[in-house]
Amino acid sequence: MPSDVEVYHDIRSGNMIGEKMKIIGINCSPRKGQTTQKGLEVCLNAARDESSKIRTNIIELAGLDIRGCLACGYCNKQLKCKQEDDFNSLISALNDKDLAGIIIGTPVYLGAMTSQCKAFLDRCVMFRRNGFIFRNMVGGVLAVGGVRNGGQELTIQTVQAAMLCQDMICVGDGFSTAHFGAVLWSGGADGIEGDETGLETAVNLGRRLAQVALKMGT
Ligand SMILES: Cc1cc2nc3c(=O)[nH]c(=O)nc-3n(C[C@H](O)[C@H](O)[C@H](O)COP(=O)(O)O)c2cc1C
Repeated sequence: MPSDVEVYHDIRSGNMIGEKMKIIGINCSPRKGQTTQKGLEVCLNAARDESSKIRTNIIELAGLDIRGCLACGYCNKQLKCKQEDDFNSLISALNDKDLAGIIIGTPVYLGAMTSQCKAFLDRCVMFRRNGFIFRNMVGGVLAVGGVRNGGQELTIQTVQAAMLCQDMICVGDGFSTAHFGAVLWSGGADGIEGDETGLETAVNLGRRLAQVALKMGT
């Protein structure tokens, strides 16, 4: 098959429809381009290094108006939300047949995910209600805290809980660190750039997520 022809694999159903796979990072910090963004870039660079099939993109929630779910039921039978805010502009990127994986990146706020992250995850309930659109998509989580042990692991696990509710396949930071996900610390003298241990988990999470997505696509 010529390399310039894009034929897509739908990894969610196992049907062959293409050769390119998208992994999207969601930066749930209210601050654009800061430590969570840097961590996600490291993670997604590592994902792309796994295969030329992998395409990546980061959506920054900073500056977007994404309100909490109102439980009105409007999305029960349609991929639409009654609230006229910026979540609606993200729906098409998330309902993309080439989307193979999602990495949620969040700062740790008081030992948990940011309110932006929680609002985003709750609003994603529409994908569950309309045929489990995220089923078998690979999910990973990156958490950045200002202190070394500031709640990153708990934060990661609560985001993973939302992924499991979507029937996603959660992966952690793979070999050789192999724990819950990417655990980063921004408060050291050199910021996250100086957090070698944390950066290693970000690289491993990106690699692991890409490897599993590729396996699912074969
Ligand atoms: C309201 C608030 C609460 C925070 N709580 C924690 C915390 O519980 N644990 C921690 O390690 N860092 C905490 N931090 C620090 C941030 O997680 C840290 O600065 C992070 O790198 C910010 O990510 P960003 O640069 O992408 O915005 C808190 C920061 C804010 C503003």
